[in-house]
Amino acid sequence: MIAALLLAAAPALSPGFGELCAPCHGPGGRGDGPAAALYLPRPRDLAVEALRNGGRPEDLERTLREGIVATGMPSFATLPDEERARLVQDVLTLRALGDRAPRRGPDALWPGPPLPALAIGADLPIFATQSAHACGRCHPRAFEQWSASRHALAFGDGLALQTPDAATALAESCRTCHAPLAEQSTQPELRREGVTCAACHRRGGAKLSRRPPGDGRATGLPVQVEPDFGRAVQCLPCHNLPLEGAVAGKPLLDTFREWAASPYLPARIPCQTCHFADADHRLRGAHDPEAVRSAVTLRVAQTGQTPVAEVSNVGAGHAFPTTATPRVVLRLRQLDAAGAPLAGTEVLWAIGRTVTSSDGGRHWTQVADTRIAPGETRRWPYDVARAADARTLEAELFMYPDWFYAGAFRARAVDDPAFGGVAAETAGSGFRVTGVRSPWPRAR
Ligand code: HEC
Ligand code: HEC
Ligand code: HEC
Ligand code: HEC
Ligand code: HEC
Ligand code: HEC
Repeated sequence: MIAALLLAAAPALSPGFGELCAPCHGPGGRGDGPAAALYLPRPRDLAVEALRNGGRPEDLERTLREGIVATGMPSFATLPDEERARLVQDVLTLRALGDRAPRRGPDALWPGPPLPALAIGADLPIFATQSAHACGRCHPRAFEQWSASRHALAFGDGLALQTPDAATALAESCRTCHAPLAEQSTQPELRREGVTCAACHRRGGAKLSRRPPGDGRATGLPVQVEPDFGRAVQCLPCHNLPLEGAVAGKPLLDTFREWAASPYLPARIPCQTCHFADADHRLRGAHDPEAVRSAVTLRVAQTGQTPVAEVSNVGAGHAFPTTATPRVVLRLRQLDAAGAPLAGTEVLWAIGRTVTSSDGGRHWTQVADTRIAPGETRRWPYDVARAADARTLEAELFMYPDWFYAGAFRARAVDDPAFGGVAAETAGSGFRVTGVRSPWPRAR
């Protein structure tokens, strides 16, 4: 019945609705998209609920152009007029259907945590295992890249040490994102593969992809093309925590919502455009100097009395940095004619979200949030007097991707030497991102 309605209703909507609106409003506009629970007020049931701004075509056009301030409803002002007109038409179509507009069916990408046990590939023994090593026999490039990625490390020593007993509820809750297959709860070797190929690519007896395989070749298991594969909602379940437990109004992982509120959603630039370009599985992010360099620009402005360092987020589709784990440090100091730093002139600023917990992670408070939203610029003044020998003002950015855990593991290592290894590893992962030197302006 529902499937029949879906077939009847879905073709009437423009493809843009599935891509731009369905994440929140659901495929049939019923307010039941995969991201719906992340917003208060909830995304409207477009088919039956009253509309604040009114339901005439011109009202809907305005809603889409302006969005609704202080809610999750984004502005679609950057879309071409014809496309907005088609989306207005979609909403009118749904309102005409009313209660007959289809609700969201079972979720093929995310049936629920943990992911249900996989069917064994009957014909080829290689499909009897969920291990990345088996996929790697036929997909060596993806395997090699994934092996060097953070996803392959998602169940590393740090997590294993924090959850020594895999059977506890806490360990299970961590596994929903760090090792999500049902089989990973009982197979320690497989658990160590973290976010393994099958977590994204296998459901039941099929392989999920965003496109059918070339020339209809045999693929061992059937390839199932999933519309949401390759869209941001594919990453949502692990890269956004629910609203409950939010700290200062924002969940500790809030990457999907940051992206959805940014110009990247209407521009149709999902997570995968940046993190899986050309199906590159290395997953370059905060741990990769080249990726971080592409995220920011740094300049020194010396127009007023006080020099100002300006950092712009030009390349990350979410806050820079998005989670509370990394710390970016901005260092400002004066250099003499030989380029040597001058004592007493150094100033350090932290760019990031600082949270603390005094009771082992049950309650968190936010100390500061100096992250930079997509497309935004933040300014830090340098109000130290010029030293006698100063010739240039130097500004530099450093990234410490594991900053939060480096501190946490160092604290644990005091009582428990087993944490010494991961403490050293996380402490050593920082790098210099970029720097500029600006001649000190002449006295005015
Ligand atoms: C990131 C989530 C999100 C996306 C994407 C989104 N919306 Fe919304 N939308 C919301 C939320 C949340 C509300 C409820 C706002 C409120 O209650 O004031 C809303 C409300 C609306 C309303 C009701 C406005 C009113 O007058 O009450 C319309 C119409 C609407 N959205 C259409 C769309 C269309 C069409 C798209 C795709 C082009 C879209 N939305 C994409 C979250 C979203
Ligand atoms: C909703 C999904 C989710 C859940 C549940 C979750 N994590 Fe994570 N975790 C992540 C993501 C995503 C990152 C990467 C974020 C980043 O780069 O800052 C991460 C990062 C980490 C890291 C840092 C890894 C590193 O090397 O920097 C540790 C340690 C960690 N989580 C431990 C845990 C523990 C312990 C639990 C259970 C109490 C848990 N996580 C539950 C999603 C989750
Ligand atoms: C976090 C989710 C995720 C994991 C884990 C993952 N992949 Fe992918 N994979 C993707 C996405 C997203 C794409 C589509 C990229 C695109 O075309 O935009 C993709 C594409 C592919 C493709 C198609 C390649 C092409 O040229 O289009 C193959 C084959 C593949 N992955 C195999 C693997 C294998 C093997 C592993 C494990 C070693 C793996 N993937 C792990 C998300 C994932
Ligand atoms: C026995 C060899 C074999 C094994 C094992 C295997 N695959 Fe494939 N797979 C193929 C072939 C052949 C194709 C079609 C490739 C093409 O047409 O470009 C394919 C296609 C795919 C595609 C579709 C993307 C595309 O290239 O169009 C994905 C995704 C994929 N495999 C993922 C996986 C994952 C994940 C595993 C492990 C669970 C796996 N495969 C194991 C042989 C295999
Ligand atoms: C099954 C859960 C899961 C899914 C699905 C998932 N991730 Fe992750 N992701 C994680 C975890 C856990 C980590 C942290 C791993 C660590 O550092 O230990 C992570 C880390 C990352 C990082 C951090 C890299 C760095 O250098 O810090 C990026 C980027 C990322 N994921 C992007 C994506 C994108 C894009 C998608 C969607 C295609 C996706 N992830 C889907 C769980 C997931
Ligand atoms: C426009 C390109 C772009 C888009 C879109 C994008 N990212 Fe990123 N992402 C980056 C860059 C560049 C970095 C490295 C700089 C940084 O750490 O913020 C990064 C870093 C990350 C990290 C590392 C942790 C951290 O605290 O920075 C995670 C996790 C991540 N992205 C996940 C996602 C997810 C999930 C989405 C989609 C909801 C997404 N990204 C969309 C470019 C992008």
